[in-house]
Amino acid sequence: MQRPAELGDRSLFPRLEADVYAAHAAISPPSSRVEQAVADFMREQAAKGAGAFMRWKEAREALRPRLGALIGAPGCDVAFTGNTTQGITAIAVCLPWRRGERVVLCRGEFPTNVTPWLQAARAHDLQPVWVDAPDPLRPVGDFLDRLEQALRGGARLVALSAVAFQTGMRLPLGELAALCHAHGAELFIDAIQAVGAVPIDVVADGVDYLAAGSHKWLMGLDGCGLLYVAPERAAALRPLMAGWLSHEAGGLDFLGRGAGHLRYDRPIRQRADLFESGMANAIGLIALGAAIEPLEALGTATIFGHVDRYNGALSEGLVARGFRTLRAASVGARAGILGVLPPGDVELIALHAALGRAGVVTSTPDGVLRFAPHWPNAHDEVPRVLDAVDAAVAELRAATSA
Ligand SMILES: Cc1ncc(COP(=O)(O)O)c(C=O)c1O
Repeated sequence: MQRPAELGDRSLFPRLEADVYAAHAAISPPSSRVEQAVADFMREQAAKGAGAFMRWKEAREALRPRLGALIGAPGCDVAFTGNTTQGITAIAVCLPWRRGERVVLCRGEFPTNVTPWLQAARAHDLQPVWVDAPDPLRPVGDFLDRLEQALRGGARLVALSAVAFQTGMRLPLGELAALCHAHGAELFIDAIQAVGAVPIDVVADGVDYLAAGSHKWLMGLDGCGLLYVAPERAAALRPLMAGWLSHEAGGLDFLGRGAGHLRYDRPIRQRADLFESGMANAIGLIALGAAIEPLEALGTATIFGHVDRYNGALSEGLVARGFRTLRAASVGARAGILGVLPPGDVELIALHAALGRAGVVTSTPDGVLRFAPHWPNAHDEVPRVLDAVDAAVAELRAATSA
């Protein structure tokens, strides 16, 4: 009988070396349940080879509606992908673009949600339109106004992150989708910094497309992700990235039903999983299935509340030490990430390294010191983090004044 996951209890991560692991927005360490699930898969695969295929394929299919539930979508509208980028590229390649259409992009986005759109712009003669990043210290209405202004010129698609990777600012997906649709634009959401950390409901919010990877807040492994495509949007795609596993039922008959079934004219599925074009990342999906069990048991709303209290206490302590916090005032604009800027005389990269030596693992995207705790992080870590910050800052100041 497995012990249930509990907020603030790290016992499912016995190998974790850090005293405080607060880098879930970068890469999550796999739990012992994930290790066990992967080991079980490998053992059976090694013993049975092709004979194990159907059993694991069924396990994968059981994962699809579970991933859907984490984003408020039916499983049939969710595809497994290799990463966030693959999901974005799939749509950028397969949208039936018309020459000259405008694509709204955001300065400060992670490049994942920019490069594929710029490539599509080159290929189809589209016009990229840039808006400034949302400022976590300003009301979200400021950003929505800027976006509306860009949309007044017309747009085919708006590409945004649900949660900004540096500041942790969360955007209101329902309001974004309504705004985009009012102007005839579709909404693509990069949700890798949101799924698993905050509740998401793509159907209720009217999001058209959403992509994420599994190695951050979902706590799976690298090289595995998901793509949601609203059914009416999927129906309009040109399936340019279809492969041998993208055909409707019957596409596999040639492997097990004798001669006469090898055909190339079977229709392609016009839904998200058309992008599952060849063999899947079996290990990644096995790992993901085990990784999300605690998220399902605890619930993302509960996890967010836990992490938000942790970040609130940490932010307060850091501000008292001269740091600038990028934590949004409104709870709806916050997620799992706490971004802070060190005092002017403390160098960010050196501080990050000193914290790491003290057993506090953080990350430093785009000039920000990023804390990203998840459900296993206990609130009583916060005083230890602040002690480590005090020691690191004192060490760095002593080194520069010497
Ligand atoms: C906002 C955001 N999008 C995407 C990625 C990664 O994309 P992929 O899953 O394609 O590696 C990251 C971080 O690695 C990220 O922070």
